[in-house]
Amino acid sequence: MRLKSRWRCRDREGPVIVSELVLHWLEREVARALKRAGRPLTFEEAAELIGRDVGSIAKAALWLSSKGLVTVEEYERRFYGLGEEGRIYAERGFPERRLIEMLKAAGGRLDLKILEKELGEKEFRIGVNWARRMGWIDIEKIGENVYARLVSEPSELPEEHLLRILRDGEREASEIPEDLRGACQRLASRPGVLEVKIKRIHVLKPSEALLKLDDSLLEVREVTRLTPSMLVSGEWRQVRFSRFDVQAPTPPVFAGKRHPLRELIRIVREVFVEMGFEEIKGPLVELAFWNFDALFQPQDHPAREMHDTFYLAEPEMGDLPMHLVEPVKRAHEDGGDTGSTGWGYKWREDEARKLLLRTHTTATTIRWLADHREPPVKVFSVDRIYRNEKVDWKHLAEFHQIEGIVMGENVSFRDLLGLIKEFYARLGLKNVRFRPSYFPYTEPSAEAIAYLEDKKTWLELIGMGIFRPEVTRPMGVKHRVLAWGGGLERLALALYDLDDIRTFYINDLNWIRSLPSSYLRRRIGLI
Ligand code: PHE
Repeated sequence: MRLKSRWRCRDREGPVIVSELVLHWLEREVARALKRAGRPLTFEEAAELIGRDVGSIAKAALWLSSKGLVTVEEYERRFYGLGEEGRIYAERGFPERRLIEMLKAAGGRLDLKILEKELGEKEFRIGVNWARRMGWIDIEKIGENVYARLVSEPSELPEEHLLRILRDGEREASEIPEDLRGACQRLASRPGVLEVKIKRIHVLKPSEALLKLDDSLLEVREVTRLTPSMLVSGEWRQVRFSRFDVQAPTPPVFAGKRHPLRELIRIVREVFVEMGFEEIKGPLVELAFWNFDALFQPQDHPAREMHDTFYLAEPEMGDLPMHLVEPVKRAHEDGGDTGSTGWGYKWREDEARKLLLRTHTTATTIRWLADHREPPVKVFSVDRIYRNEKVDWKHLAEFHQIEGIVMGENVSFRDLLGLIKEFYARLGLKNVRFRPSYFPYTEPSAEAIAYLEDKKTWLELIGMGIFRPEVTRPMGVKHRVLAWGGGLERLALALYDLDDIRTFYINDLNWIRSLPSSYLRRRIGLI
């Protein structure tokens, strides 16, 4: 049924003046869909075609119709479906049909009481009623009993046909065959059998003007960014802004970042620099002289043996700093002018000339000290060292040490303790304690340990002390030198919550990628 339209349309004559035409992207899409379809479209069809909701189509239709590009017609459509009763009948047959079937099976006659019992009170009543009205049965009274008698057997009724059709889903009135229309009307009067739904349909019809419109005007430009020039030109009104689903899954992107161990090294450097230190570097291949002798480590000291230290095969020996040979030799043999009695053995130059991979970075600081004999000296190193270790979860043959020395006119052991405490506090380790220790080159000597809250254990951080006169005097150093050195990887293990030191060297990409680049700085509390 065509309704009187509330969609007023100013029907313009002739072509639309293109230069005046400004279309919203939604209008363009709807207009384009109409042109493409080449026929009127319902709002639902248009919505489906351009992938928008019906509400948006209605909006666009209103705008388009005001521009004379479309007309909108509103129709009412009638749909027939099955009601509750209707569904039961479609399944089992009408009551009157079932009644006839029963009579047929019983040879044409049945006691009403039996029929009522079989059909149930309600269907029995409806069935008898209709069957009589149609003249299919009559009622006979024989003695005390009342019977139904089959008079004529009906073929399929239009009503039954209709029910079969509707069983498959609702139908629009116009789809129902001509010869069933009467049945439709009759069934509509039986309660609960049919359901009639009225739907309003809006049909968009392209106007002549739209059909003549140049296609290029209907192209919808989709943009992802609003630019100043779009604002100035007003073009923003016509373009379509892409929608972004910010929660859409994306392939993971693994941005480049520092290796976790390098990151810790970087932080250690930053902390030292913040505390006023300068970084120094020394050779990886070192003279035994700097690695051991200059540090007053006797030549028969077990650490100097092959099973602890990697010696070079080629070249085997290096050149000694000749001006230091005599003072160091004397410190070892009888103490010289250091105030010590020395170790009391015969010091051999050949042993000191051996080349090795440095076993600690103290070799690097003592080298520096020999060249920087006047205070102040305040330097550090974070660098690689080598030891002849069997590699396992807590040992590596090459690893890193944190090292430092401070020389000043008035520095004391307490300064050293304060310095170390401060340094580790800046790395997030607030609970640091000291205990006495021993190194051949320091006196007094101590060791710093830190309490790991989460692991409830103490971690050894660093060895430290004041260089003995046997170390400083031969170098010509007259002031106290605070010195310390210790492993980096153990600290790294604690900070990264790992328990196998090899993790840092096996390039486990899964682990490396899983760590946010800010992990350590957050953990330490730097950010
Ligand atoms: N070199 C020592 C080590 O490797 C640490 C240390 C450095 C101790 C300086 C005292 C002074 O463990």
